[in-house]
Amino acid sequence: MCRVLFYLRIIIKYGKCLISTMSFNLYMARISSRFDRLHSFTPSGMRGLMNYGLSCCVNTLLQVFSATWELADLLDRWAPVGGTGDSSRNVPLQLKKALMAMRSDQPQPAPHHNFLHCLDRNYIRLSIQHDADEVFLSILNFMQQQMDDKQLALEIQNLYKISVETHLQCSECNSVQCWTSYLLNLPLHIREDRNSLESCMTSFFELQELKCGDCCFCAQCGSKTPSKQGFKLLSLPRILCVHVNRFRSYRGCTQKLDCRVTFPETFDLWENLGEEAFSKDYVKNDCKYELFAVIVHSGSAMFGHYTAYVRHKGNHQWYFANDSHVEQATWKDVQTTYGGNYRNTAYMLMYRSTKEEEEQPQCSG
Ligand SMILES: *[C@@H]1O[C@H](CO)[C@@H](O)[C@H](O)[C@H]1NC(C)=O
Ligand SMILES: [Zn+2]
Repeated sequence: MCRVLFYLRIIIKYGKCLISTMSFNLYMARISSRFDRLHSFTPSGMRGLMNYGLSCCVNTLLQVFSATWELADLLDRWAPVGGTGDSSRNVPLQLKKALMAMRSDQPQPAPHHNFLHCLDRNYIRLSIQHDADEVFLSILNFMQQQMDDKQLALEIQNLYKISVETHLQCSECNSVQCWTSYLLNLPLHIREDRNSLESCMTSFFELQELKCGDCCFCAQCGSKTPSKQGFKLLSLPRILCVHVNRFRSYRGCTQKLDCRVTFPETFDLWENLGEEAFSKDYVKNDCKYELFAVIVHSGSAMFGHYTAYVRHKGNHQWYFANDSHVEQATWKDVQTTYGGNYRNTAYMLMYRSTKEEEEQPQCSG
């Protein structure tokens, strides 16, 4: 039996906290006089983004989207048909404009101002500390809902889409249910000791026992039974987003795990995961990936700050973006976000397939 189900094994809500209720416009008026001094623009084209209230989370996502030129190219191809509602509320349209303004030769004081307001109108509030992974998935979701060109919207989704086959074997009657679903990022559960990206990924694809509260309904047995569940890869995306889940709910509180998680600059999924992680329907092709952006979280679960390391398309250099401040960085600097000794820890990793675009397998809905 096959059915489509959007399944996420690990969803731990990040503790949200209302820090400031100061009205955005009041805040804008206060800081506008400081704009020119704080606004930074490096000759390489990496542009700093002013922090309005608590916008560091969206700022880092914009830096990452900006470094994802495949996305910018798709949005550039999009010619929205007018009159389909209030454009100030349209997330993909405002994202398209913000990314264009970030690339522009004429520095604009706040290329992301309208985008932040647009998110606010879509209930991603300005004065609230957000979880970068949640906002990332929401923005991808808004693109599906709010783009009038559904074909292009699908192409954007396919950029990130990981198709997986889920197998569920009932431990009592041994019958197997199998279905296909997809993920837009790979949520990795980390242990409290040492971890590597490769070992976290391997455990994601290992069989997992579902017992007690996690029991699933078995049609053969006619009841909820314990079972074994496993995932197998059906297709890999051009942009592989990995979510290093450092937040954990413990007795009603959200805690952050600062433990060490190493990750490589380049890696080969086929070699690291082995054949067992792939479905027999997987069309074997090149599974090599290269890191191009890291979203970093500093601080605790309740009071944090986001920054990003992104790799520039032109000169292939790493840059560090901390709101309006942008500086050149090295792979060694990126590695300080492994965690363990430092407070700044990698939270989301963006890998790009090293294959040429035209060689990419076509994913279907
Ligand atoms: C980001 O910049 C702020 C000052 O604007 C500084 O306090 C903070 O330590 C910086 N964060 C990182 C991770 O460098
Ligand atoms: Zn059964």
